[in-house]
Amino acid sequence: MAILIKSEAEIEKMRISGVALRKVHDAVKSVVRVGATTMDLERAAVAKVKELGVKPAFLDYHGYPAVLCTSVNNEVIHGIPNDKRVLHEGDVVSVDCGVIVDGYYSDAAVTHPVGKISASAEKLLRVTEASLYAAIDKALVGGRLFDISHAVQAICEAEGYGVVREFVGHGIGKSMHEDPQVPNYGDAGKGPRLKAGMVLAIEPMINIGSAEVKVLEDGWTAITVDGSISAHFEHTVAITKDGPVILTR
Ligand code: MF3
Ligand code: CO
Repeated sequence: MAILIKSEAEIEKMRISGVALRKVHDAVKSVVRVGATTMDLERAAVAKVKELGVKPAFLDYHGYPAVLCTSVNNEVIHGIPNDKRVLHEGDVVSVDCGVIVDGYYSDAAVTHPVGKISASAEKLLRVTEASLYAAIDKALVGGRLFDISHAVQAICEAEGYGVVREFVGHGIGKSMHEDPQVPNYGDAGKGPRLKAGMVLAIEPMINIGSAEVKVLEDGWTAITVDGSISAHFEHTVAITKDGPVILTR
């Protein structure tokens, strides 16, 4: 399938979607603390989505049972909120959410520290988030898709981290997942030419140890094979003639 180009009016709609999504993320962040459960995070998201009158994008997506993905420590992505899963001091919890406003999707993720975390966990979060912003800086008209991918890979592998390969970012618009796939590894200067009006969900998923992941029997939760902790940051980004625009800021 071709990479769909969005008009300025469509990008404006996606920005409105992204602003709503940011409000959901802010609401969730405010309940992240030692002793909270991942279901407490879900409840905060459900309440905010309702208050804003927007549609959650993940709920019922291929049967996914929640508004959020909440992935703790060695869980990489797609962790399902659970009222038995208590957050402890030193945990990291990735919160991934998407919403639909006026038919347009936005998708964003952030990994939160719970209480005081180890220096190594703190560095993983910092480097993963920095790799996302370095990747966004490569979302330029006339560049190539894998410039984005390479930026993540170079920064994270320089620290000895494992760059997850089984899951990738994606085009986004009137569907959550459009072409192209946006891997977090690749050769700079290669891949499709980037054009104004492309909108991408860029989402590094980075393990402190090996890159290998596996999916649990619940059919969703992806965990690291070596048990090492993982971080995930994601923004929905429009490529424009004036440079990259983060729609989920
Ligand atoms: N951010 C994830 C993605 O890009 C969200 C999908 S979770 C699902 O695919 F539950 F909706 F599948
Ligand atoms: Co995504």
